[in-house]
Amino acid sequence: MDKITVVGAGHVGATAAQRIAERELAREVVVVDILEGVPQGKALDQWESAPVEGFDTMVTGAQDYEQTAGSGVFVVTAGLARKPGMSRDDLVQKNTEIIRSVSEAIARYSPDAIIVMVTNPLDVMAYVAKAVTGFPRERVIGMAGILDTARFRSFIAMELDVSVEDIQALVLGGHGDSMVPIVSTVSVGGIPLTQLLSDERIEALVERTRKGGGEIVKLLGTGSAYYAPSAGAVQMVEAIARDKKRVLPCAAWLEGEYGLDGLFLGVPCKLGATGLEGVIEVKLSDAEREALGASAEAVRGTMELVQL
Ligand code: APR
Repeated sequence: MDKITVVGAGHVGATAAQRIAERELAREVVVVDILEGVPQGKALDQWESAPVEGFDTMVTGAQDYEQTAGSGVFVVTAGLARKPGMSRDDLVQKNTEIIRSVSEAIARYSPDAIIVMVTNPLDVMAYVAKAVTGFPRERVIGMAGILDTARFRSFIAMELDVSVEDIQALVLGGHGDSMVPIVSTVSVGGIPLTQLLSDERIEALVERTRKGGGEIVKLLGTGSAYYAPSAGAVQMVEAIARDKKRVLPCAAWLEGEYGLDGLFLGVPCKLGATGLEGVIEVKLSDAEREALGASAEAVRGTMELVQL
């Protein structure tokens, strides 16, 4: 791939750009931010690490989108964090405005791009990007499931004292609180988790995963998680840039899958060179289906706050 753009040079965006460059997923990574000098400064600093880390991906920074023209993938992390006194509704409206302007620029300069949405609330911001760009669902995908799953897997690994590499897990639905872990699919080296841990311990790990974002916010004092979120976004970028056909939990625009239509929700997706190459339907128990429906309702509730 020639060019990948990361929009937002904050914690998530800058870390994502660094990971993309270090893995040489494109010839060039462009980092865009409205802050004067910040994307250029971070990009130059990253590029100066290239001789040490040994990558040839050029990292550049910009305030406008001319330099991003022809990017194959955009990782969108631009946004405001919720500040004290700001309601969730205010945040949705503010980030909607940001994502609207970013989406217009993407469609203008890179009409064939694939968008990986990270800005929260990501299911709804992905909807804004899709509506504003007019891109098909193959080219607008949200990052959340990989992060929720990674948190769940890391907690299971700590609990059992085994390698994270051997843990497979699937999480559906919205991000965080309303996520729907499909416990029947969780395995450790192929062994169902239910044979290794009691229901109570599994439930405790699920609960910690649900609140995983909040746990980091509390520890940091200011700001929110960015190492794991950027890793999740870059896994999606890699699947696309290297046409890996990976099966990953991502937020996809549903068109009847799981009996749901017209919203972004976390589901198992196949990602390759053309973006979303398929949505895979898993058999769900009645309780899981009900939880997924509730998660969809929560996303729809936030969608209603958006004025496009
Ligand atoms: N265009 C480009 N960049 C913008 C714009 C815009 N219109 N508006 C704001 N930004 C930039 C800010 O200047 C800031 O540098 O977005 C960046 C956001 O960075 P941080 O505040 O550090 O936030 P971060 O922790 O990176 O999180 C970004 O990802 O995981 C989600 O919930 C998180 O929505 C948040 C997003």
